[in-house]
Amino acid sequence: MKLKALFVIFSLSMPVCMATPVPPCNTAPLTVSAITTVASDSASCDGAPFPAECATATNAAPWINLAFHTFGIHAFGTQAALLSLMLFESGSFKYNINHYPGVPGQGTRNMQSPAFNLKYAEWLAANMTGSGISTQQVQKAQSEGPTQVLELVNGDRWGFASAAWFLAAQCDEEARKGLVAATEDGWNAYLTDCIGTTATEGRTTIWKKAIALGKW
Ligand SMILES: *[C@@H]1O[C@H](CO)[C@@H](O)[C@H](O)[C@H]1NC(C)=O
Repeated sequence: MKLKALFVIFSLSMPVCMATPVPPCNTAPLTVSAITTVASDSASCDGAPFPAECATATNAAPWINLAFHTFGIHAFGTQAALLSLMLFESGSFKYNINHYPGVPGQGTRNMQSPAFNLKYAEWLAANMTGSGISTQQVQKAQSEGPTQVLELVNGDRWGFASAAWFLAAQCDEEARKGLVAATEDGWNAYLTDCIGTTATEGRTTIWKKAIALGKW
């Protein structure tokens, strides 16, 4: 890995753990049983409407842990929030493409909108050596359309990492602090000020179940 990529990972990962010394710095990996406790329907892909898009908790856990590592997401509260968002947006990992209504190019496990999938692809090409995504590929996909851009980032490696990237690269420090604090105010502020959505009951029910675990 080139120094630049290391620097980016380092600089992204610094604020969270530096601002909040050891206790909130969770080192235990997210477990399959934690995921199925929060969303029992993630245990299986039986009957998934789009089987090729479905991932079980067992499939998902290692990719989510790798994403946390890549983007320096160490606090339990932050990990729980990102997991909750992904579970909600992907229907417990049944989907990684938007079908309802079916916005072309919207997808990944946090159902990122097309404009952000383009930013994400560009970011990975520029800043993550070894991402497997080149600037040339991004430009080609962009000329073809949003569906092609989504395809670049929608494998397991990056499709499970987009929520973490979004928080690290698109949210402000206040939003990140609120998630580290694991408060409902922090969760609400993250959804409204950063994700640009509302704290609906569906979203918050999942988040409360995840937070209630206290740790992985
Ligand atoms: C690469 O990362 C830097 C620092 O985080 C950021 O300012 C820049 O916009 C990124 N490049 C792309 C193409 O997203």
